[in-house]
Amino acid sequence: MKNPSEQNISRVPNHLAIIMDGNGRWAEQRHLPRIIGHRKGVEVVHSVVDECLALGTRYLTLFAFSSENWGRPHDEVEALMGLLGRFLQKELSSLHKRGIRLNAIGEVSRLPRNIRTILNDIIEQTAGNDSLVLTLALSYGARNEMVRVAQALAAKAVAGELSSEDISETDLVAELDTSGLPDPDFLIRTSGEMRISNFLLWQLAYTELYFTDVLWPDFSVKHLRAAVAEYGRRHRRFGLTAAQLKALEDRSKEWAD
Ligand code: FPP
Repeated sequence: MKNPSEQNISRVPNHLAIIMDGNGRWAEQRHLPRIIGHRKGVEVVHSVVDECLALGTRYLTLFAFSSENWGRPHDEVEALMGLLGRFLQKELSSLHKRGIRLNAIGEVSRLPRNIRTILNDIIEQTAGNDSLVLTLALSYGARNEMVRVAQALAAKAVAGELSSEDISETDLVAELDTSGLPDPDFLIRTSGEMRISNFLLWQLAYTELYFTDVLWPDFSVKHLRAAVAEYGRRHRRFGLTAAQLKALEDRSKEWAD
């Protein structure tokens, strides 16, 4: 692992989430078909995964295809699915070699059968890896996720497994697609748009947000390091005061000694 201090990086997010935006505009600016932007975007995914491994980030979650993206022109959806399939086929051995565990969130059942098959294969084959958990949000929308959570909790209540008054945050979190993953510490969105776009609405409650004008196909390791260095300068308080947080930190240090 590179020494983070060499890059002025004082603290690395344990869980980094990214909205990879701007592929279409990148291509349009060059009078190229939009799919060329997406293709370039896939290359960037590869280098960002490598850098997360080098930095020591343990969880990386990428917004690859939203529930709303199904509404794009048929050709673009088909091309994106083709790219996803080729990415998965090509990356299988490389993910495994690098000790990466693949995970997916979203309505994966809506993906074409061939993609589902390879996705499930890789998820199964990499299940024992622990250097990095790479989660792809595919056919994902946070409102849709919450509706599915509500349905699951209601079903449990009807079955008598849970009483509605006792439903807790823990019960709810257990039904999220991300159950078992920590909440993201840091969210990066490229391309200058400053919105969350239905991504991880519950999980981002205390996440540090970072927006950059750089379009995703131009997003390099240098941009990633600059973003992570900025994360290291943020003061996270989780709704508490700085003094309370310091007391908590001191107490956990005492317990560790
Ligand atoms: C946003 O750009 C990006 C997407 C809708 C898809 C992101 C997908 C990739 C980077 C490739 C596939 C990913 C993997 C992991 C294989 P946009 O089309 O919304 O750009 P625009 O806002 O400039 O139109």
